[in-house]
Amino acid sequence: MPSLIDLRSDTVTKPTAAMRRAMADAEVGDDVYGEDPTVNHLQERAAEIFEKEAALFVPTGSMGNQTAVKLHTKPGQEVVIEERGHIYNFEMATMSAFSGCLARPVKSQDGSGILTWDEIKGAIHHNSAYYVAPTGLIALENSHNLAGGSVLTRERTEDICLRAHEMNLPVHLDGARIFNAAVALKDSVANLARPADSVMFCLSKGLGAPVGSILLGTKAFIDEARTVRKILGGGMRQAGVLAAAGLIALEESPKALPNDHANAKRLAEGVAELPGVKIDPENVVTNIVIFDVADTGQTADGICAQLRERGVLMSGFGAAIRAVTHYDVTSVNIETALRELRSVLAH
Ligand SMILES: Cc1ncc(COP(=O)(O)O)c(C=O)c1O
Repeated sequence: MPSLIDLRSDTVTKPTAAMRRAMADAEVGDDVYGEDPTVNHLQERAAEIFEKEAALFVPTGSMGNQTAVKLHTKPGQEVVIEERGHIYNFEMATMSAFSGCLARPVKSQDGSGILTWDEIKGAIHHNSAYYVAPTGLIALENSHNLAGGSVLTRERTEDICLRAHEMNLPVHLDGARIFNAAVALKDSVANLARPADSVMFCLSKGLGAPVGSILLGTKAFIDEARTVRKILGGGMRQAGVLAAAGLIALEESPKALPNDHANAKRLAEGVAELPGVKIDPENVVTNIVIFDVADTGQTADGICAQLRERGVLMSGFGAAIRAVTHYDVTSVNIETALRELRSVLAH
């Protein structure tokens, strides 16, 4: 049986041969004592690339995001976030369980998932009556996963952060896929991250590392984040084995992202031609393709189940299907996936 074409997520990548070699050869120490040279090197490189003062290696993107929420907020506050944001929808209500905060979800009126300052402003409680929960944080996402990998430009990020800071509100950027955003915008991750008070990015998504994310901010913020990471059980020991793969992901993998984006575009163009499917390929600018199948006469889950039998994996989300490209998917795989989808929809 030929191997599966796995388009469920860019988290499914297997470490490259270079990553596995680096993991085997990694110099390690106890990172809870700050003595793992490979972790330290990864953190220094990440801080350098993002032009932030300091960085912290965390096991998951969720831990990085929730550590930031904890540090920026007080219990009883609200976090303003786009309504499909990952921090709100897919992190187990941790902002309430751990930080004592409520999400204040905001719909992006143009459907792009990218909020304007005016949309954010309408949801902020600032100097409101004492019986209204105050806003503690604005959380942004670049690229925006559930909005189909849409991207937040440097200018929009600067505008939102400038105005938030005028109100003394911090901004956290969930940049799980910020390298994809940077490629799409032909900008640097440093420029996209600069205005935000803290940024999280994942090594384990499109960059292909087996485990790990990085949280970035000022030195004082990262010093406190180390404590929060420990509270969450994220103090790892000889984590250099993981950081070694992360370093390769950080240095080498961004070069391959344009190829993932070209594959996603091709997939979107092919999918757009299928009967009953709704997607505008123009909006597919990174590695995420989300298409609506409500008018196909089949359910998203039903289509995904049939695709699975044909060796193609995609994820159903309500009436939509999500396919994500990554370095283990080739352009030939994309044509095969399209052929199988066409055939499933013809039945
Ligand atoms: C936008 C976004 N943020 C954060 C995360 C969380 O990353 P992790 O799965 O490593 O916790 C994900 C994971 O899919 C994501 O897509």
